[in-house]
Amino acid sequence: MARFLALFVLLPAFALAVVNLKPYDQTAKRMLAKIDANGDKSLSRSEMEAIVGHADTNKDQKVTGAEFNVWVDKYLPAQKAVSQAVFKLFDTNGDNSLNKHDFDVFFNRMDANKNHSVSESEFVAYWVNIFKNLEAQG
Ligand SMILES: *[C@@H]1O[C@H](CO)[C@@H](O)[C@H](O)[C@H]1NC(C)=O
Repeated sequence: MARFLALFVLLPAFALAVVNLKPYDQTAKRMLAKIDANGDKSLSRSEMEAIVGHADTNKDQKVTGAEFNVWVDKYLPAQKAVSQAVFKLFDTNGDNSLNKHDFDVFFNRMDANKNHSVSESEFVAYWVNIFKNLEAQG
């Protein structure tokens, strides 16, 4: 509930930014292409965990909101409000930093059929839904 309210407060600022991410399926495919290290059009748990390593610039095994914004900016430039909203979605235990556990929980949410691999269609379906929800709440 607290997380939902936090998201709500951000909304006026990022309603427009979300629209800039259309078409959402293409944006989601581009996101996957950037993080899919071996190019097999699916996301493994180790590729997901590598994000922590890349975004964690001070190497303390945690990704802060500021570190996350810098990392997202490489992939979705000038989308700070979206980045902040997505950080809150990733921060599954609400401690204002992302660790391996948060990424595991998030991976499981995207992995709709729970076969330990997030396919392109699972990834796109998950993110299109997130973008639509953000837009609808705006
Ligand atoms: C996991 O499921 C997806 C979606 O059905 C499928 O495309 C993929 O090949 C499966 N991967 C593995 C490793 O089982």
